[in-house]
Amino acid sequence: MNKNDCIIRLERKEEQREVEMLVREAFWNVYRPGCSEHCVLHALRDDPAFVRELDLVMEKEGRLIGQSVSARTVIELDGGGELPVLTIGPICIDPALQGKGYGKLLLGRSLELSAELGYGAVLLEGNIGFYGKSGFVYARSFGVRYHDMPEEADQSFFLCRELIPGYLSGAEGVYQTPRAYYISEEEAEEFDRAFPPKEKLRLPGQLV
Ligand SMILES: CC(C)(COP(=O)(O)OP(=O)(O)OC[C@H]1O[C@@H](n2cnc3c(N)ncnc32)[C@H](O)[C@@H]1OP(=O)(O)O)[C@@H](O)C(=O)NCCC(=O)NCCS
Repeated sequence: MNKNDCIIRLERKEEQREVEMLVREAFWNVYRPGCSEHCVLHALRDDPAFVRELDLVMEKEGRLIGQSVSARTVIELDGGGELPVLTIGPICIDPALQGKGYGKLLLGRSLELSAELGYGAVLLEGNIGFYGKSGFVYARSFGVRYHDMPEEADQSFFLCRELIPGYLSGAEGVYQTPRAYYISEEEAEEFDRAFPPKEKLRLPGQLV
């Protein structure tokens, strides 16, 4: 990969379906048989928490090869009140081009723009193997807990990165996933019916 062989820009309205197709291809059978991330993306775009300035696509030789979206949410502080934060996702790279550095480049641009917009921190559910390379650490190290999980549960999927140094100091509390990410199985199934048929497979390593 060469940093100059692709551009990162805002998603255009007329390419929304193409981006949903890309998301479907990238997530299909990765975390569960089939996937619902394309449906989540579709719902997110109409949600008040959605950050339009961070609705990014990556283009290479006139073709869309990646996307990333972000939404606003909060940490409900143990001491009272809420701390505004961002979350990222879905984010993906075309399966044929994964592992070449494009994801890191796209994530880096999203973080850079988020900081420019004044956001203080990003929290998300993800793999430390990928996000750790871009400065993410376990959210528990700041005393932030994932909602609706017992204290002793493994929360190593729950990561964070400060954009303003010190922003998460004193942020002990509970992170809330934005509402738009909650999609029922039925909604996801219904939404997916508008796409070309694709085989759902149960594969090793899936989470569900
Ligand atoms: C996750 C994803 C966006 C990463 O993009 P990518 O272009 O494949 O990743 P990159 O090549 O930029 O990798 C950057 C670094 O992270 C590491 N990395 C990437 N994916 C990883 C993984 N699944 N596990 C461990 N490390 C990983 C790479 O080894 C690389 O390390 P390096 O900088 O030391 O070389 C992409 O693989 C994807 O679309 N996956 C399917 C959808 C998905 O899982 N999205 C994320 C949901 S949380």
